[in-house]
Amino acid sequence: MSSVSDKSQFDHLSEPPLDPHYALKELFHADNHPKKVILGSGVYRDDNSEPWILPTVQKVQPLAPAEAIVRENQDSSRYEYLPISGFAPFISTARQVLFGPLGDKDARVVSMHTVSGTGANSLGARFLAETLKPSAVWLSDPSWVNHENIWGLVGVNVEKYPYWDAATKKLNFEGMIGTLETVARPGDVVLLHACAHNPTGVDPSKEQWKRVADVCQQRGLFPFFDCAYQGFASGNLAEDAWAVRHFVERGLLEMAVAQSFSKNMGLYGERVGALHLLCGTATAAQKAKGHLSRLQRGQVSQPPTMGARLAATILADEELFQSWLGDLKEMSGRIRGMREALYGELVRLATPGEWGHVVSQIGMFSYTGLTPEQVAAIQDDSHVYILKSGRISVAGLNTNNVKYVTEAIDAAVRKHPF
Ligand SMILES: Cc1ncc(COP(=O)(O)O)c(C=O)c1O
Repeated sequence: MSSVSDKSQFDHLSEPPLDPHYALKELFHADNHPKKVILGSGVYRDDNSEPWILPTVQKVQPLAPAEAIVRENQDSSRYEYLPISGFAPFISTARQVLFGPLGDKDARVVSMHTVSGTGANSLGARFLAETLKPSAVWLSDPSWVNHENIWGLVGVNVEKYPYWDAATKKLNFEGMIGTLETVARPGDVVLLHACAHNPTGVDPSKEQWKRVADVCQQRGLFPFFDCAYQGFASGNLAEDAWAVRHFVERGLLEMAVAQSFSKNMGLYGERVGALHLLCGTATAAQKAKGHLSRLQRGQVSQPPTMGARLAATILADEELFQSWLGDLKEMSGRIRGMREALYGELVRLATPGEWGHVVSQIGMFSYTGLTPEQVAAIQDDSHVYILKSGRISVAGLNTNNVKYVTEAIDAAVRKHPF
C-alpha cells in the first residue's frame, strides 16, 4: 500500500481573506432566525425575495426539461465551439446596445465576447497592462472589490482617486478631478463606472462627466469604463450609457468598455459580457484584435455559448427587445420604490441622521453611511446582514421586510449614535 505524505509544496501558502460578500453569505446561511434578511449581494430579487427570471428571457428559453429545449431547437451547431472572439450576432447587438444604433459600424472598435463583465474587466486589464504598461490604474475610492484584485493579478500598481465624501454622503468631485489632473500620470488607466456606481450608488452629473473627459484628453489618461448596470439604473439604456457615448463622441479619446448582461438580463450564471476597445485608427484596432485573441485563447479559448445566444435573440428581435425594455423599467422601478419606502420609514421613525442620499443614489446599491459598529449591531440584534462598509443591496428589500429592516437600522443608530 502506498504511503500518504504529510507535506505539500503548498504548505507555505497563507490563507487569503474570504471575499466579504461570500463571508457575509456564509454567516447568513448559518443563521436560523425566521426574520433574517441579507442585503449583501448585487443580485436582483422580486418582492418575495426570489430570483426573477425576466419574462422576456422566459419567452426565449421557457423553463422546460433540457430534452424538450434541445428537441425544440433543431440547430445542431448549438454546442459547437464559437470563434475565439465569440458569438458574432451577440457582439454586434451588444455593441448597438452600448454605443447606440450605429455602434456596430465603427471599424476603430474591436470587441470580444467575454466571460461576463468580470472576464471583460480581466481581459482588458491584461491587454492594457501588456500594451500600455501604465504606471498605475486609478480606481475610485471605494470601488467594486474585484477591481483591485483583477488589476493586482496583472501586476499593475493600483492607486485610488477620491470618490465618496463620507461627511456629505455625496460625490467628492473636486477631490476626484483634482487627483486625476495633478497626480495621475500620462498613460495611466482610469477605471470609471459607467452608471450606478458600485458600491456607493453615486454617479457624476453630465457636466461632471464632461470635465472627466476633458482631463482624460488633456492629461493623456486612458479611460476604462465598467458598464455592469446599463438600463438597470434609470430603466433607460441611452441614459445609462450617456457617459460612455459622450467619451466616444469626443472623437479623440481611445478607451475600453467592459459590458455585462448579468444584471440587466438577469443572466448572472450564464456569464454574458463583452470587452470593447475603441482605438484611434482602424489599423490599430485590427492589431489590437490579434493580441486580444491571443490573450483570450490563453485564458478561456472560446467564450460560452448559451447565454450569448439568449441575449442575442432578445436584442435582435424587435418584439423581444421592447419586452426587455419593459423588464428593465420593472426592475429599476421596484428598486426606486424600495429606496423611497426605506427613506419614508426612516423619516417616520425620526431616525437620527440625514437620509436624503438613500433616494438620490441610483442603481442596485446604497452606501448608507452606517458605521461598522452600527452594521454589527444590526446583524447581532436583528439578523439583518449588511457589508461592513455600510453598503446595502436595495434589491434585497421588499414590501414584506422594509419595515423590519428600517426598525433594525433605527435601533442600531440610537444604540451607537453617529
Ligand atoms: C461594477 C461591477 N463590475 C463588474 C461586475 C461583474 O459582474 P459579472 O461578472 O457578473 O458580469 C459587477 C458585479 O457585481 C460589478 O458590480
